[in-house]
Amino acid sequence: GFLAGVAAAGRRDGAKNAAPAATIDVLIGTQTGNAELVAEDVVAGARARGLGGRTTALDDVTPEALAAMSHVLVVTSTYGEGEMPDNAGLFWEALQSDTAPRLEGVRYAVLGLGDRGYDDFCQAAKVIDTRLEQLGATRLHDRVDCDVDFEEPAAQWTAAVLERLVAETGATGGADTGAPVSKASEAPVAPARPRSPWNKRTPYPSRLTTNRLLSSPHSAKEIRHYEFDLGDSGITYEAGDALAVVPVNDATLVGDLLTYLDAGGDAETAELLRTEREIRTPSKELIADLVERVPTSELASVVAHGDRSDLDSWLWGRDVLDLLRDAGPKAPSLAELLPLLRPLQARQYSISSSPLAHPGSVHLTVASVRYDSGQRTYGGVASTYLADRIGADATAGVYLQPNASFSVPSDDDSPMIMIGPGTGIAPFRGFLHERAARGASGRNWLFFGDRHRETDFVYEDELTELRRRGTLTELDLAFSRDQAEKVYVQTRMRERSRELYAWLEDGAHVYVCGDASRMAKDVEAALLGVIAEQRGRGDDDAAEYLAALRRAKRYVRDVY
Ligand code: 2AM
Repeated sequence: GFLAGVAAAGRRDGAKNAAPAATIDVLIGTQTGNAELVAEDVVAGARARGLGGRTTALDDVTPEALAAMSHVLVVTSTYGEGEMPDNAGLFWEALQSDTAPRLEGVRYAVLGLGDRGYDDFCQAAKVIDTRLEQLGATRLHDRVDCDVDFEEPAAQWTAAVLERLVAETGATGGADTGAPVSKASEAPVAPARPRSPWNKRTPYPSRLTTNRLLSSPHSAKEIRHYEFDLGDSGITYEAGDALAVVPVNDATLVGDLLTYLDAGGDAETAELLRTEREIRTPSKELIADLVERVPTSELASVVAHGDRSDLDSWLWGRDVLDLLRDAGPKAPSLAELLPLLRPLQARQYSISSSPLAHPGSVHLTVASVRYDSGQRTYGGVASTYLADRIGADATAGVYLQPNASFSVPSDDDSPMIMIGPGTGIAPFRGFLHERAARGASGRNWLFFGDRHRETDFVYEDELTELRRRGTLTELDLAFSRDQAEKVYVQTRMRERSRELYAWLEDGAHVYVCGDASRMAKDVEAALLGVIAEQRGRGDDDAAEYLAALRRAKRYVRDVY
């Protein structure tokens, strides 16, 4: 673009403290914050090479603004079944339009973050890459799609792309000159927080100081409260961030698996399976292998005739060991099985505390996943690790997963509307503690629910106290199974339509946390319904109103 050319000319003139050779726009599509971390590295690398760099959320970029950019690097994850992440949906909608401008002046590259375990692996990155090309933009470098262990391929892509940019723009390509960056190259978003030294490879061994049952022992669910000591880790977090827990598999299950594979005494493999492989959920690779080995099996028939959700429901309550047993004599040997198992992943949980209220400590609110088939018991890998296998005052490997977009409003006077049934309440407990500790005057409204008031009303005492103190202005409860007909949080939202809309008009921020597959969609439909009803200007107007909230970062979700 024009400005980049001017900047480059300035540098060629040898001006001291010259503006960067070109400004690299790093556009982020993120759900959990990983793309943000990669983007920060890209910007740091660009600056070290004498280039200017700034990060922007995809949704903050209009097609017209995009057309005016010279060098664009898109780093995006994919959400759910091949959908755009929450901060990229508006961008994608606009980019698909027939009226989207041509992008002949744009040179770009795309990095996808994803999980090969899903069918629509890196779909968001793929479609953006294709669409930019269609609109006439020039690809600087091939797209790279990263699997869950994204760090290394992302670093390689970053280095290759930056090298290319240095060559193209005539930047110094050297180390950081220390020259002040120009106004344009400063990130328009809040300054990045210092990054914690702890990560997936080197998690911080954090002491579990509290492991307490929150739900009643008579509940069908088991919801637990955990507290981790941050000790001397140097980890600082904000209410709304997530904590990643590096789990360890159940030794009994490892033993059963090895016994079945005639490798009961193999201590080294036992350790590998316990700490480094996913042994509960069958991988796509294992399923494909088993289908090939036993084409007549029920599994093979579901794979052949069903879709992904048929397969998921067939797999529910079945694990790797079950599938091996089903395959009988045709089952793979241990040596054949090992490469078909995926690396053990860390699990992320929304933090349920505020650092102001509980300095040095992180709280989690987690439902234990347990299932008993009669023959065998099954446990969620990380939730039962937390519940059963860490041991009193022992440590677990953790690291912080920041979620900058999911935080209390910077303006303490802004109202907050929080919708979080089940364990979706977690970040909102943190938000309320945060606001109480800050003495924030903004009004707070929580929609919470679960099956039964008697057994599932977690944090009831705390919420009652927050109500009494006035921190919690409104509390709407939806206990779905306490009456004949189902009552959900969105039922309560519709009942409070007028007040809800009045809060929105007063500048409220809306937060949704919890189940993505059904709840978050139904809640969004209810929100649109409320807006349409109160404004009386139809569905398109309501959709535009919600889109504006999203753009203003006043409608944000933490759903999974
Ligand atoms: P149910 O299990 O009785 O259907 C937390 O899991 C709460 O969310 C439960 O009360 C559960 O109700 C409810 N829930 C289930 N599906 C939902 C949906 N689509 N929208 C909102 N809440 C839902």
